[in-house]
Amino acid sequence: MQDRPRDPSGPVLRIGPVLGIETSCDETAAAILDADGRILAEAVLSQLAEHARFGGVVPEIAARAHLAHLPDMVGSVLRAAGLGWGDLAAVAASAGPGLIGGLIVGSGFAKGAALARGLPFVAVNHLEAHALTARLPGLLGEAAPAVAFPYLLLLISGGHCQCVAVEGVGRYHRLGGTVDDAVGEAFDKAAKLLGLPWPGGPALERLAAAGDPARYPLPRPMLGRAGCDFSFSGLKTALAQRVVAFPPGPLPRDEAADLAASFQASVVAVLADRLSHALAAFAARHPALPPGRRLAVAAGGVAANGPIRAALAGAAQAAGFTLAVPPVRLCTDNAVMVAWAGIERLRLGLADPLETAPRPRWPLETLSGAGEPGGSPQEAA
Ligand code: KG4
Ligand code: ZN
Repeated sequence: MQDRPRDPSGPVLRIGPVLGIETSCDETAAAILDADGRILAEAVLSQLAEHARFGGVVPEIAARAHLAHLPDMVGSVLRAAGLGWGDLAAVAASAGPGLIGGLIVGSGFAKGAALARGLPFVAVNHLEAHALTARLPGLLGEAAPAVAFPYLLLLISGGHCQCVAVEGVGRYHRLGGTVDDAVGEAFDKAAKLLGLPWPGGPALERLAAAGDPARYPLPRPMLGRAGCDFSFSGLKTALAQRVVAFPPGPLPRDEAADLAASFQASVVAVLADRLSHALAAFAARHPALPPGRRLAVAAGGVAANGPIRAALAGAAQAAGFTLAVPPVRLCTDNAVMVAWAGIERLRLGLADPLETAPRPRWPLETLSGAGEPGGSPQEAA
């Protein structure tokens, strides 16, 4: 345990190791961070194998798997950190948005522990956890200074696709988002059309590396359009139309590779274009930000894609920004980010009552920071 200064304007808050729990989708995860955000122990159990034969996440199976694995996982991260329950200062759990069954399991477990041990509980918004990951100490290199607000977040995952100005804990301004599918969802649907296993993103990226992106040009929805919204359903439909033009049965591998390469090229072009627009909007919102402080952060499973990372870095550089991408294990769903978001909130004195209900929908923009109304899932619209 140690004393930490809160925001200079506030009183000192006493915090120590924080347990984070993530169960909002198909990863069961637990992690313990010390008060400074150093990772003492972490574990992630992916349920891929349980859902693969259904071609997507089955909420009921996910909830049961979280229930089956979470208690042992928490026990093992405590042991790995060399801590007992009595050493913890707080418990933080994803409380939304996500699949309600999993959220009930994870936040219910966290609340039970908090009640039994008399610890503060933080109901973490999963999107806020992705958004604040960039501020984890040492994330961008041991010597790199902590990332300061504001920065631009591009969240590209299976369930989310949005550009957000991150202006403080609980202070988010959504610049744009998808009007239909999330980009990871588009990758998964495209991969399915090409006969690849779920989740499709990594398999499609590998296949695309062997293909010719110019052979079957596909549309690039929203490219050049004002603002920074995204749309992927038309691209998926165009791919489906190309696929049905082939004789029934599995696609020849070289054709599938060309289609994969074309699909990925469209996504790459669209994401780079949308990021450019988002950066312009962000720069207009923060005109006084010095050039050395202009940072864009990409997070979510799709940020693991090599060509996408390269294109985003190029778009950021052209706009005078640096692109930071957390390591893949912290880009995808994990509990380190949940514990860290808990610490960021606890430093501001923002714990939540145990009555706080998990919620499947919980937009980032409805959050608030210290001293403002609407900070908990119950209060946020
Ligand atoms: O962030 P994440 O692990 O889970 C959530 O959706 O919250 O992201 C998973 C998504 C899946 O749609 C997966 O196909 C996609 O990220 N993905 C990728 C790659 N790796 C994962 N998409 C494109 N290229 C990749 N290398
Ligand atoms: Zn996520």
